[in-house]
Amino acid sequence: MSNIYRTHMCAEPSEANLGQQVKLSGWVNKKRSLGQLVFIELRDISGIMQVVINGEKNQELLELSDNVKNEYLIQVSGQIIKRDEENFNPKLKTGTIEVYAQEINIINKSENPPFYIDDYDKTNENKRLKYRYLDLRKPSMQQRIIQRNKVCKLARDFFYDNGFIEIETPFLNKPTPEGARDFLVPSRVQPNKFFSLPQSPQLFKQLLMVSGFDKYIQIAKCFRDEDLRQDRQPEFTQIDFEMSFVTEDDVIGVNELFIKKVFKEVLDIDVSLPIKRMTYDTAMKLYGSDKPDLRFDMKISDITEIAKDCGFSVFSSVVSKGGCVRGINVVKGCEKLNRRDIDRLLDVVRTYGAKGLAWIRLTEGEIQSPITKFFTDSEIDGIIKAMNASDGDLLLFVADKESIAATALGQLRLHMAELMEIEKHGFEFVWITDFPMFEYDEEAKRFTAVHHPFTAPFDEDIALFGTDKIDKIRAKAYDIVLNGVELGGGSIRIHQQSVQEKVFEQMGFSKEKAWDKFGFLLEAFKYGTPPHGGMAYGLDRLVMQLTDTDNIRDVIAFPKTQNHGCLMTGAPSFAEDEQLDELKIQIIKEQKDDD
Ligand code: AMO
Ligand code: AMP
Repeated sequence: MSNIYRTHMCAEPSEANLGQQVKLSGWVNKKRSLGQLVFIELRDISGIMQVVINGEKNQELLELSDNVKNEYLIQVSGQIIKRDEENFNPKLKTGTIEVYAQEINIINKSENPPFYIDDYDKTNENKRLKYRYLDLRKPSMQQRIIQRNKVCKLARDFFYDNGFIEIETPFLNKPTPEGARDFLVPSRVQPNKFFSLPQSPQLFKQLLMVSGFDKYIQIAKCFRDEDLRQDRQPEFTQIDFEMSFVTEDDVIGVNELFIKKVFKEVLDIDVSLPIKRMTYDTAMKLYGSDKPDLRFDMKISDITEIAKDCGFSVFSSVVSKGGCVRGINVVKGCEKLNRRDIDRLLDVVRTYGAKGLAWIRLTEGEIQSPITKFFTDSEIDGIIKAMNASDGDLLLFVADKESIAATALGQLRLHMAELMEIEKHGFEFVWITDFPMFEYDEEAKRFTAVHHPFTAPFDEDIALFGTDKIDKIRAKAYDIVLNGVELGGGSIRIHQQSVQEKVFEQMGFSKEKAWDKFGFLLEAFKYGTPPHGGMAYGLDRLVMQLTDTDNIRDVIAFPKTQNHGCLMTGAPSFAEDEQLDELKIQIIKEQKDDD
């Protein structure tokens, strides 16, 4: 490397370099003028070095420093000296030394930036996204991107060492139904036709198993046109892999070693193996979610048996119609929540379809509740026992069909943990297994695949196809969940054409439609397909967990906003008429609101 611009990175010199001449290039983080003494913090990706200018010794330099402002890019030549002890800065890696400046060149001026390049800056996110290149100068932002890079390298190394082969799969694909909405790309060469961008490399990685590659990995860009939530982006990245001749335990086993390695090397945390496993049914019953946050308890209790013959008709009638009554015990909830606070909780469960929220307060030896008058003493004792409740606790109940009661209480559980300010520590991993294969889509009036239609059903459940027990068919699918977030998911795949056709049929696809959309896969399955399975991690979500942020945009260099826009480039934008003509696309004019 030439020494024209620098001999060291800004934060590279240490006390070992005392007395040495160095040349540094960096951005002015901060300047402090104390008369004849001027201090400049010089920043690059390695960190900060303090530069000191002594006007008594070098008036010319002092005058030049007058013109230097924040974010100017300057080059400083000088000597590494020790700071006086009272000026040590323990926050900096270079806090005991500084550069005594002998020469300063302004390489490039900077306009006054629209916000401070500082981790404590509280500028609204839209402005940060508009000037993303400046936002990315902040040390905390750079650290997250560096951690992301580390995870990618660990993934590549780990899978390479275990015999996986990195193979790229195409972006321009055939649109297929299922899953999220596709992003479409018009074909110019074949007018009126469209490609879709991949929602994941799912089918290609399966075809690579048919080709005999045995173990595939890719750090893959995926595109899904869906409404964005906290941890979703329209384009995101997966660590995606697939293996031949494996069972669920094999895939889970390899992944546990990968997770252990990532958490050890990135955070120096020892994940103890094996990671616990929980069936989907248990997760829904106890936590009301297929991604339970196990950092706190507050499990859901089922009191259907007690409620079924009770005098409270809301409960007993729900049970008589096949529903259930479940509740959570908010330990010491009475101390934090009064009646009015409890009334407000109704809105939380209503969002998830519950019709009401019944409650019992156990306070100062008394039982307060609008519903206990309908219960016998022994029924109340039974409820208190079932919910492990004691004085000060608040019991909350939902009576409804099972899916609503579970989800509403699962969400209420998370809400109560926030309200009660329950401390959530550590990294609680869990594998969720035995997912249902299908779920009924009320709108489409048909069954859809919970994971995707290429997931293998349990062998012993194949007999249930075509019966009235479709919802009881279990899939060989698994998700890895960390602290209530689905980090990744995968499955053992179907490798026999006959089973694959059965699944499509169950989902209401005619044979013709299945062949039209997935013919290439069904055709491939005729040629000795090995049993195979795999999984994909959401890389962005994994890095969010590793860098302790709940904003997915923090871990992506150039993310999109809630409405799929890039505030920096202005994408998406209108196309030129010539481009549209070439593509034989006509825009319905009134939608073009800048006309
Ligand atoms: P799935 O759809 O579960 O599985 O996706 C795998 C993981 O990708 C992450 N993820 C997302 N991250 C950010 N923004 C999004 N919009 C988004 N959507 C998904 C999640 C999720 O767990 N082909 C299968 C995997 C397989 O079966 O091998 C698949 O894509 O962390
Ligand atoms: P009501 O008899 O409708 O006034 O309801 C009495 C109490 O039961 C109120 O606190 C309601 O919120 C609650 N409640 C009503 N329906 C349900 C339900 N499906 N599940 C749980 N609690 C309910």
